[in-house]
Amino acid sequence: MALETATPTHLLILGGTAEAAALARRLDGVPGLQVTSSLAGRTTGGRDLPGSLRVGGFGGVDGLAAYLATAEIDLLVDATHPFAAEITRNAAAACAAAGVARLRLQRPAWQPMTGDRWEYVDAPATAAPALGRHGANVFLATGRSDLAAFSHLGDKHFLVRLVESPQAPLELAHATLVTGRGPFREAEDRALLQKHAIDVVVTKNSGGDGAYAKLAAARALGLPVVMIDRPPEPEGETVASVNDARDWVLARIGR
Ligand SMILES: NC(=O)c1ccc[n+]([C@@H]2O[C@H](COP(=O)([O-])OP(=O)(O)OC[C@H]3O[C@@H](n4cnc5c(N)ncnc54)[C@H](OP(=O)(O)O)[C@@H]3O)[C@@H](O)[C@H]2O)c1
Repeated sequence: MALETATPTHLLILGGTAEAAALARRLDGVPGLQVTSSLAGRTTGGRDLPGSLRVGGFGGVDGLAAYLATAEIDLLVDATHPFAAEITRNAAAACAAAGVARLRLQRPAWQPMTGDRWEYVDAPATAAPALGRHGANVFLATGRSDLAAFSHLGDKHFLVRLVESPQAPLELAHATLVTGRGPFREAEDRALLQKHAIDVVVTKNSGGDGAYAKLAAARALGLPVVMIDRPPEPEGETVASVNDARDWVLARIGR
């Protein structure tokens, strides 16, 4: 249904992913559309976006609902990371309360292929006990906010890869930190796993191309992977590609 308004339709993109940035770029310059991207501000990257940008939390469901009203948001695309469960829950509730149309853009999950040795767990907290069955050297590619779930494992040595160096020391007894922003290459990740004599890889099932290299590298080296499944999603319309999200927005402004 097209929105019949004289003023531009205001779209809020909840971002922090490559897909969110790509959507903002794909919608740049569309007549009758104003785009604001929102970032949590966890890292310093990803701010070179067309349209308007706001950074930082909204203050829960009520804060987001208030923002939707104040900024006169007509449409919201939640393109946050598959594991950013809190903002996704909040967006669903705030949009329902404010009567704002919401679309979830979520990249497909990774699927195992021949040669993969994946063991599924449902949360970082259950990944930690699963490591008891594996060797001491662990490549921990879960992201900064999930490291605490492994802090009690004093008999493991963790190789931790983060986008940026953290301000505070890692809460792990034995860890080596490497920093890097994807996309990563399989040959480089294979070399990294070999250099650190990694026995097992721990990752969230983020999907996408940028961070897949470690899985191809693990497969090539015959290494097991502890794969953390995605959290449940609120009900609502969902698409898997930037193109489909763009079409959803364009349909709502009658283009
Ligand atoms: N989780 C991951 O593995 C991961 C990986 C790559 C990128 N990211 C990106 O990093 C950001 C934070 O992820 P998270 O897992 O910490 O999220 P989260 O746990 O779902 O959200 C925690 C709080 O951070 C704020 N927030 C999150 N995303 C926001 C956004 N796009 N704009 C404004 N505020 C936001 C909200 O604060 P208020 O309640 O105050 O509104 C939210 O309640 C997200 O934008 C996500 O797309 C996450």
